Amino acid sequence: MEMQADPHGALSGRARVPGDKSISHRSLMLAALAVGESRIDGLLEGEDVLATAKALRALGVELVREPGGRWTVHGVGTGGLAEPEDVLDLGNAGTGARLLLGILAGHGFTSFLSGDASLRRRPMGRVARPLRAMGAEILTRSGERLPLAITGRTRLLPIVWRSEVASAQVKSAILLAGLHAPGETTVIEPLPSRDHTERMLTGMGAVVRTAPAEGGGVAVTVAGEVELLPQQFTVPADPSSAAFPAVAAAVAPGSEVALEDVCLNPTRTGAYTTLAEMGATIEITDRRQVAGEEVGTLRIRGGALRAVDVPAERAPAMIDEYPVLFVAAAFAGGTSRFRGLAELRVKESDRLAVMAEGLSACGVRCAIEGEDLLVEGTGAVEGGAAIDARLDHRIAMSFLVLGGLARNPVRVAGAETIATSFPGFARLMNGLGARIRAPAEGTEAERP
Ligand code: S3P
Repeated sequence: MEMQADPHGALSGRARVPGDKSISHRSLMLAALAVGESRIDGLLEGEDVLATAKALRALGVELVREPGGRWTVHGVGTGGLAEPEDVLDLGNAGTGARLLLGILAGHGFTSFLSGDASLRRRPMGRVARPLRAMGAEILTRSGERLPLAITGRTRLLPIVWRSEVASAQVKSAILLAGLHAPGETTVIEPLPSRDHTERMLTGMGAVVRTAPAEGGGVAVTVAGEVELLPQQFTVPADPSSAAFPAVAAAVAPGSEVALEDVCLNPTRTGAYTTLAEMGATIEITDRRQVAGEEVGTLRIRGGALRAVDVPAERAPAMIDEYPVLFVAAAFAGGTSRFRGLAELRVKESDRLAVMAEGLSACGVRCAIEGEDLLVEGTGAVEGGAAIDARLDHRIAMSFLVLGGLARNPVRVAGAETIATSFPGFARLMNGLGARIRAPAEGTEAERP
């Protein structure tokens, strides 16, 4: 499906973006491993999370969606999953595939995993290697890519694993596998990545500790062979999804937008720190704790932005927001530098290359220097380009945000991929004053 963003003026109003993708995947998986019935409110019903739900059903877990949107999961206990009859298709979801591998490593049957063309390109060795060290057998296609076969073991070996990348997916896969190992399993990562798994496991009765590691980095340790207690999960709004209306509002002069219930976990808010450094007016009100996570309302006002130099250490806390922050930089005064972006190359697309190419097509001068991206902001952007989303929801949404702020409309082919993480994106943006439409079908906001 193609979508087109026409230039808009100031944005205004209140909105709640859908539930957090990371917490939604984890709620379903951890609820499945608990003993008894868990309930989940606010689950993101995007395609990625629904693929995880489908995989869990194929593994013998009963999941029921109540009419009001609450999900009930009948947990089978750690080690209680059943062999699936067919290939588990995780669609576009790296989180679904990698976290599920950690769980399957602790089950003594064989499963086959695959996904869409984007997921089949992404590296699985980063989780396959530690899980093999724990005792699972994993056979992959060349380059450690999907499709793959995994045969787990009911009792894994506890390990200490040093990951080269700061990745919550790698960390979580190992911690989930560690639940099936006697004693303690430790993951060391170079910088702290999002810690939802640790928080949720702790809330369910597991013992998890985080401490500086000898020789540098952060060590996270889980004690295995524990019974997880069922939970009442409440999923906050996704700060990564909120970044799209937030950037649109920060750039469009005169805008005043409030985004409610946004997860403010400090391992997720690097994009807002960066926007504030660029001179955006961001206020947080109604801060409170909900189900183990801090949430609040983000109030963003539009105005002139200036260039920024984003340190590599901030990458894990804003890893998914770089594409739309590059868009913000294109409208700022001066040249911005974003450092240490190697991980962007292995996301749903090669986001470094695809963003640089798309920004250039929209008339923005930018350059890749090693692992850095430089974006020359001029305050005004030509736009007028046709972009291919390349099966990457965040590429699609970033260029639709750019189109709304540019001089000329931007068209995005393959915009259906937005449904993986942000169903109703166009409707929500249009409700705030954006002008996004599927040219063949009229404005999404106007459709029933
Ligand atoms: C996620 C971790 C990040 C992020 C992804 C979600 C998670 O990936 O990009 O969208 O839920 O754990 P990496 O762990 O590969 O950095």
